[in-house]
Amino acid sequence: MASLSMSAFLFFLCVFVFGTSVLCESVPGLYVFGDSLVDVGNNNYLSLSLAKADFPHNGVDFPTGKATGRFSNGKNAADFLAEKVGLPSAPPYLSLVSKSKKLSSSSATVVTGVSFASGGAGIFNGTDELFKQSIPLTKQVGFYSLVHDQLVQQMGSEGAQAHLAKSLFLVVIGSNDLFGYFNKDSKVSKQYTPQQYVDLMVSTLKELMKKMYEMGARKFVVSGVGVIGCCPAQRKQNSSECKVEANHWSVKYNEGLKASLHEMKLESSDMHYSYFDTYNVMNGLIQDPEKYGITEIKAACCGLGNLKADIPCIPISKYCSNRKDHLFWDLYHPTESTSSIFAGHIYSGSQDVATPVNVEQLVNV
Ligand SMILES: *[C@@H]1O[C@H](CO)[C@@H](O)[C@H](O)[C@H]1NC(C)=O
Ligand SMILES: *[C@@H]1O[C@H](CO)[C@@H](O)[C@H](O)[C@H]1NC(C)=O
Repeated sequence: MASLSMSAFLFFLCVFVFGTSVLCESVPGLYVFGDSLVDVGNNNYLSLSLAKADFPHNGVDFPTGKATGRFSNGKNAADFLAEKVGLPSAPPYLSLVSKSKKLSSSSATVVTGVSFASGGAGIFNGTDELFKQSIPLTKQVGFYSLVHDQLVQQMGSEGAQAHLAKSLFLVVIGSNDLFGYFNKDSKVSKQYTPQQYVDLMVSTLKELMKKMYEMGARKFVVSGVGVIGCCPAQRKQNSSECKVEANHWSVKYNEGLKASLHEMKLESSDMHYSYFDTYNVMNGLIQDPEKYGITEIKAACCGLGNLKADIPCIPISKYCSNRKDHLFWDLYHPTESTSSIFAGHIYSGSQDVATPVNVEQLVNV
């Protein structure tokens, strides 16, 4: 039982490093669902995908100095959150599958968590059309069900249940669905009013989270969408100013999501969550960047052209030497230092940005 001795070893290491820290015992796993903001390399395994980051200059500040598939100069928010709860970064699900050829009962699941996140992914199946190929949230939850079955085989039904009930389920999704709606060739904008569309995003996400709950998930860390109309790709369409509609509907979606999480909690009292108000925190960075040591909030660090957003971050692009000064790494994604600021607020933020509790509190529920 290689997997068992491995987890025993990890547990021992944990106790050895952190003394009697409750952290090691209280968060046994981190399961990550979402889009490029938290993708750690799943898309490296999708041959047709246009949403890839497994080439320079991504990863210049990663410990290995190499591109990993993260849409960042270094680590992303999922990596930082894992560090904060004393876990290794959750590995990409598709890397585990490719290692064991197919996910058979003999292959050991990494018991400290798995990441299903995929660049370009949305709550809706159709959202990834723009990027040709990604793992939509429905499919991410489908992959999770396979991992769940495997954990039951490895740990027994009760063991798996106990493990999952203490694990964190991070969900970072929604931006791509909104970008898709406000894209100029959008089909969905002809089908739905923006209010109908954000309502459908909220209800679809709720259904998927219920499935996760049915498969043992109890502690959710759910992020709202950020100030998406202010990313370089959007600003360049409005003389460097933010796109107002995209921001307006981001706020509406976030309001709906918050209400839906509250509802879920009323329906299942043993479900717990921390909602992170990405919009609020990101807006704080935009309004008062100096407070965080940031000087460039409009242009990307890596790219070419206007706001470095005409050409994305590809090997022929230039990148800035002062990554810590920039809010954005590329035309859509935050720098490693911005992600670190986000993760700090997710973990220990005050109630106006992490509600009804932050992750530090969620862990001890
Ligand atoms: C999304 O795709 C999955 C199959 O991958 C399917 O089972 C599901 O019904 C689809 N959802 C919608 C809303 O079309
Ligand atoms: C462009 O920015 C200006 C200034 O913030 C704003 O008033 C205007 O509504 C924006 N236009 C669009 C299309 O978002």
